[in-house]
Amino acid sequence: PVIYFITPTYPRREQVAELIRLGQTLMHVPNLHWILADDSATCNPMVIDLLPRFGLPYTHLASPMPEIYRHVSIVPRGVANRRAALAWIRANIKSGVIYFGDDDNTFDLKLFKEIRDTRKVSMFPVGLIGEYSISSPILKEGKVVGFFDSWPAKRMFPVDMAGFAVNIEFLLQHPNATMPYKAGYEEDRFLRSLGLTLDQIEPKANGCTEVLVWHTQTTKRTPPVLRIDSVLDNSLKDLLQT
Ligand code: UGA
Ligand code: MN
Repeated sequence: PVIYFITPTYPRREQVAELIRLGQTLMHVPNLHWILADDSATCNPMVIDLLPRFGLPYTHLASPMPEIYRHVSIVPRGVANRRAALAWIRANIKSGVIYFGDDDNTFDLKLFKEIRDTRKVSMFPVGLIGEYSISSPILKEGKVVGFFDSWPAKRMFPVDMAGFAVNIEFLLQHPNATMPYKAGYEEDRFLRSLGLTLDQIEPKANGCTEVLVWHTQTTKRTPPVLRIDSVLDNSLKDLLQT
């Protein structure tokens, strides 16, 4: 089966660095189709130039976050663009596996071998999540019986976006399954909209004992205010003034 790796992304200073690192990880994975879903009105030219360099099959979509959600206290990041990717899958693909891989996460190549044979929904631990530093299904006799996560928040599936994969035929059996614009509840509501039950979950990563994906985050630094006249030499200044 082909893995459709869905990455929401948005323009910011760190974007090129994140996408180069992720793309160069994905280059090592056979039978992978990268869906880069831009949180912007049109496909970002920088991303357009970058994508062919990895030699991967890819689809580049543009789907901006609706303006109303940009002004709420906790912004639902990456939802409009993930939804666009789901719509593209529904319109074009009949089988395979989807995985939501954010542009700033870190992926062990072993992860792809684990998720490829997902029959309905597979789950596995994610490192560097919240206060407990890990989010993971809890297993008893090889079956998922609960979750270890520092933010349960009354969620039925308290997991991170990077902690599960979904079979496309299973997705297509649920035509109304979608991701809500509700920060913190995107994963849970999406999985619930698939009608998922605990006993259907396929645990991966050696019975959820191995971490194969990390929720790494790149430090955001406010760039200094750059005064253009301080970096131009006098001759250039003269030129610009004429
Ligand atoms: C956490 C979860 O791991 C995400 O899966 C979840 O989408 C996010 O919270 C959320 O619900 O807010 P976190 O590291 O806090 O992730 O968020 P980011 O990495 O900043 O954003 C998640 C993804 O959405 C990234 O791939 C990012 O490029 C993208 N994003 C972020 C957008 O497309 N638009 C934005 O305005 C911000
Ligand atoms: Mn992140």
